[in-house]
Amino acid sequence: MGEDTVTFIDNRTGKRVDLPVRASTQGPDAVDIGRFLRETGYFTYDPGFLSTASCHSSLTYLDGKQGMLEYRGYPIEQLAEHSSFIEVACLMLYGELPDPARLDEFNKTITHHSMLNESLKGFFRGFYHDAHPMAIMVGVVGSLSAFYHDSTDINNPEHREIAAHRLIAKMPSIAAASYKHSIGEPQVYPDNALSFTGNLLNMMFSVPCEEYVIDPVAEKALDLIFILHADHEQNASTSTVRLAGSSGANPFACIASGIAALWGPAHGGANEAVLKMLDEIGDVSKVPKYLERAKDRDDPFRLMGFGHRVYKNYDPRARIIRKMCHEVLEKLGKGNDPMFELALRLEEIARSDEYFIKRKLYPNVDFYSGLIYKALGIPTNMFTVMFAIARTVGWLAQWMEMIGEEDQRIGRPRQLYVGAKRRDYVPIGER
Ligand code: SDX
Repeated sequence: MGEDTVTFIDNRTGKRVDLPVRASTQGPDAVDIGRFLRETGYFTYDPGFLSTASCHSSLTYLDGKQGMLEYRGYPIEQLAEHSSFIEVACLMLYGELPDPARLDEFNKTITHHSMLNESLKGFFRGFYHDAHPMAIMVGVVGSLSAFYHDSTDINNPEHREIAAHRLIAKMPSIAAASYKHSIGEPQVYPDNALSFTGNLLNMMFSVPCEEYVIDPVAEKALDLIFILHADHEQNASTSTVRLAGSSGANPFACIASGIAALWGPAHGGANEAVLKMLDEIGDVSKVPKYLERAKDRDDPFRLMGFGHRVYKNYDPRARIIRKMCHEVLEKLGKGNDPMFELALRLEEIARSDEYFIKRKLYPNVDFYSGLIYKALGIPTNMFTVMFAIARTVGWLAQWMEMIGEEDQRIGRPRQLYVGAKRRDYVPIGER
């Protein structure tokens, strides 16, 4: 028994097994259970992965108790204040803050990959006008591998890198094209003179008939929100991307699987669900009724934008977005948005309620983000698309980290089987 092991004792047989401990640089160490089945005959059981580390990573660190989030060691509060989404993307992909020349080069690379293959226009037209933009995103992103045969060899680091650049750059173009299709307006091409978020706003909201002036408040607000959404450790969609990537699937297919997983209302779809919830509640006088529903186990209603698997404290991103809400709404002349007032009151009442206090349920990143998207004129069904644009950076950084590992192998969890024991087939005439 060494100091870097823990001992498993099987009280049924008295057998003792020493298990190695893997040390972290921050947060809990991990017991390596890779040999556990072979040495003990047991599976470990952790549906929902509450206590399971699926991998090691140097990208993002969360401390749920303290409500801390760091990208490559840099606190999210400092990146939110001083950085840009493109700089965060470069940091996440390559590990260090870029110097001015490197940042300029990276920005130019991303900018010059933002156009879509002209054949894709027909793809968008194939969707009915009321298709949810997330459905279009899943389909179109998954189809990109059909266009880029020159970057699907995942064992080639250059292919991996160009595929990552293409995906980061094209997500806004695909998102804007999805939106334009849904409102029956012509697609707008990227403009290489614009910033990442300025380009997105222009592709979404400009029309051929008149000049579109990008509001710098909106451009900056969107950039900040994208920084906050860039990565978040091994959340459901990132774990989906890693599992898909572990089979050797091409990066376009892996990112499409991440978009699909993000869409769920328990995950990235929550920002859209929060606005629908606030709209349904309508008035602060109805908040107590909805809180009672949220607390009722027999009622499927949950307080959307509240709670988090890891954060048992305020989500640091929600704290930043909440503060930003005030500033952006004021600057956009929407400071007295009744929905924002309702959200503030809802948070205040919920956070003083024993049910939420006992379960450490705080607002998460999705509780306030939709209010800013709404103030920027982004329609509710595009909220999760915004999340997907930003999280594509994290998905790709995590995918590149995994694929680049020497000992990378296919992910293949086991199960606790509780079904029927072995039995013989019964001919239909004897049943
Ligand atoms: C994101 O993982 C990530 O990092 C995700 C994310 C990212 O950046 O990738 O941070 C983005 O997905 C944020 C979460 C957005 N989802 C929502 O806002 C939907 C509402 N929240 C819940 O569905 C829930 O809180 C989850 C899904 C976020 C977390 O679920 P868990 O960890 O499985 O927690 P749980 O369901 O076991 O809840 C524990 C208790 C339960 O009560 P009891 O059974 O103990 O009596 O808290 C209750 C739950 O019923 N609870 C809620 C609640 N969230 C949890 N009750 C009412 N309203 C809620 N929102």
